[in-house]
Amino acid sequence: MKFPHRVVAITGASSGIGAELAAQLGAMGCTVGLMARRQDVLDAVGRKVESAGGTPVMLPCDVGDYEQVKRAVARLVDAHGPIDCMIANAGTGCPVNRLEFSPEATEAVFRTNLLGMTNAFYAVLPAMLERKRGHLVGVSSLASYQGMPQDAGYAASKAAQRIHLEGMRVELRGTGVDVTTICPGFIRTPMTDKNEFDMPVLLDVETAARRMIRAIAKRKRVYNFPRRLWWLIRIGMATPRWVYDTAVANRFSRMGASGRTQKRSTEL
Ligand SMILES: NC(=O)c1ccc[n+]([C@@H]2O[C@H](COP(=O)([O-])OP(=O)(O)OC[C@H]3O[C@@H](n4cnc5c(N)ncnc54)[C@H](OP(=O)(O)O)[C@@H]3O)[C@@H](O)[C@H]2O)c1
Repeated sequence: MKFPHRVVAITGASSGIGAELAAQLGAMGCTVGLMARRQDVLDAVGRKVESAGGTPVMLPCDVGDYEQVKRAVARLVDAHGPIDCMIANAGTGCPVNRLEFSPEATEAVFRTNLLGMTNAFYAVLPAMLERKRGHLVGVSSLASYQGMPQDAGYAASKAAQRIHLEGMRVELRGTGVDVTTICPGFIRTPMTDKNEFDMPVLLDVETAARRMIRAIAKRKRVYNFPRRLWWLIRIGMATPRWVYDTAVANRFSRMGASGRTQKRSTEL
């Protein structure tokens, strides 16, 4: 498969899905701008990208801070020319039980997941519109389709991302700038390593990144995967709310009885 973009920026590139996307795009010969907060980890990912045959550019920044994102984007453009594709992948969760709801936790998760994505897009969009060419990719989640106890804020931020992406996609029609929404299911990464329950249809990160790159190359509008979990979620969405509430509540009370409620998270 030939990847259609030369200069790609990835947020959340220091770990999990972002780091694997960077390595695989490096192997396809891309110049990859690596954006995340931890410089030392970014350096290690950069070495991987380089040994795979790509050109890494380490761009430490906090995606929640628009000025930092703009400076990072400017550094990549100055060194390697216009950005063809921005993959907004940085994400965080805020597992809370019912006694721990807090404005700070909800604000933090929305700042990284939703504003982190829009900051990344706004930093590259004017240049893409001027060139009449570009690709914005947002990593949302299958969790965006349903609310789950203890992760209401995370799922809500992912839903906000998905809806924002849909609006942008339609609005940018005819401008030459494409928008792709990616909704993964459970992928084995540091984010899900802490989950203590069985994750249905769990994928390894290499397979997930390969599928995401294929979806981006095909400029898919929306890519929900893996298909089997996506079908289960669709069934859940079609279920009457009282059945859904009872089934989910029963599952969670069983987990509580086994003493896992406090530590688990449902992030996907
Ligand atoms: N794993 C799954 O099952 C799954 C399923 C569906 C969707 N997703 C989504 O996929 C994306 C990647 O998840 P992952 O599983 O690869 O998680 P991960 O291994 O925990 O990686 C998260 C990445 O986001 C970066 N990040 C977090 N806050 C940031 C901030 N304020 N500024 C800049 N970078 C920040 C982290 O880097 P630093 O800490 O160095 O800043 C890290 O590189 C997330 O958006 C997640 O919601 C994951």
